[in-house]
Amino acid sequence: NWSMDDFIDMQIEKIRAEVGDKKVLLGLSGGVDSSVVGVLLHKAIGTQLTSIFVDHGLLRKGEADQVMASLEGKFGLNIIKVDAKERFMSKLAGVSDPERKRKIIGNEFIQVFDEEATKLNGMEFLAQGTLYTDVIESGTSTAQTIKSHHNVGGLPKDMQFKLIEPLRTLFKDEARELGEKLGMPSALVWRQPFPGPGLGIRVIGEITEDKLEIVRDSDYILRDEIKKAGLDREIWQYFTVLPGIKSVGVMGDGRTYDYTVGIRAVTSIDGMTADFARIPWDVLQKISVRIVNEVDHVNRIVYDVTSKPPSTIEWE
Ligand code: XMP
Repeated sequence: NWSMDDFIDMQIEKIRAEVGDKKVLLGLSGGVDSSVVGVLLHKAIGTQLTSIFVDHGLLRKGEADQVMASLEGKFGLNIIKVDAKERFMSKLAGVSDPERKRKIIGNEFIQVFDEEATKLNGMEFLAQGTLYTDVIESGTSTAQTIKSHHNVGGLPKDMQFKLIEPLRTLFKDEARELGEKLGMPSALVWRQPFPGPGLGIRVIGEITEDKLEIVRDSDYILRDEIKKAGLDREIWQYFTVLPGIKSVGVMGDGRTYDYTVGIRAVTSIDGMTADFARIPWDVLQKISVRIVNEVDHVNRIVYDVTSKPPSTIEWE
């Protein structure tokens, strides 16, 4: 009778036997999979694990702090946090094509990770949060692209690592169950899917600091209200996008000419197909009022009522 407790004990034993007194490197993305691997490995081998967390400046509001507070603060992982925001912003300046943006972010991510990893001595193993679904899908090109920045696909050039992938036999919901069994906070374990390129593909077209701030702040309000309405587990993914168009509005006695923010919320099983979520009108109204009132330079909110297909979940 297979249970998660048995799984934890077995994995810990297996990891200890395999690693011995050697050192393990882990790329933390802030997502569920790599975080669970981090906590599991820490339980098994403690300070023999070093994690690298690259902050590309495209994370959601409060996300980097939350990851550090939880994984370093609460669980005691040794995390090297790299603040690479400037590097990413300068590489992305003037770039508006979605696929180019993705490529730049993915490549820069690998480069930053490699640079940090090269500074560390004596790392023999590289841990990854590969799930069973990643193993199955790894033949398709999309999965490869997604994995390249999700699971830190690049290996430092001069280093040969042995891979450790303790979640290889698990599905997503089992990885979450494992996280809960390990005592991880539900905000981390039940985190909605978040793309590797982050908010970089939610600012449509060229990314600027001002536009990022609008997406970050409006997304924060959306998440807050969805949670308050108790919808955060039934809606699969929900976020705001900034299409970059401006329109006319009126506020007080004055005419405004400001940005439109789009709300995207979908129900889905695996992201391959999706339906737009039927969020109650009064919840949408609250979100709309708050975003316009609390985020500067926004005077209009629209709700995306297309499914996938024909649309995709992200706008880029
Ligand atoms: P789409 O927009 O293709 O998204 O319907 C399906 C799921 O994949 C996520 N997504 C990405 N994840 N790197 C990632 O790691 C990417 O470049 C990327 N593009 C989309 C998206 O958030 C959704 O969950």
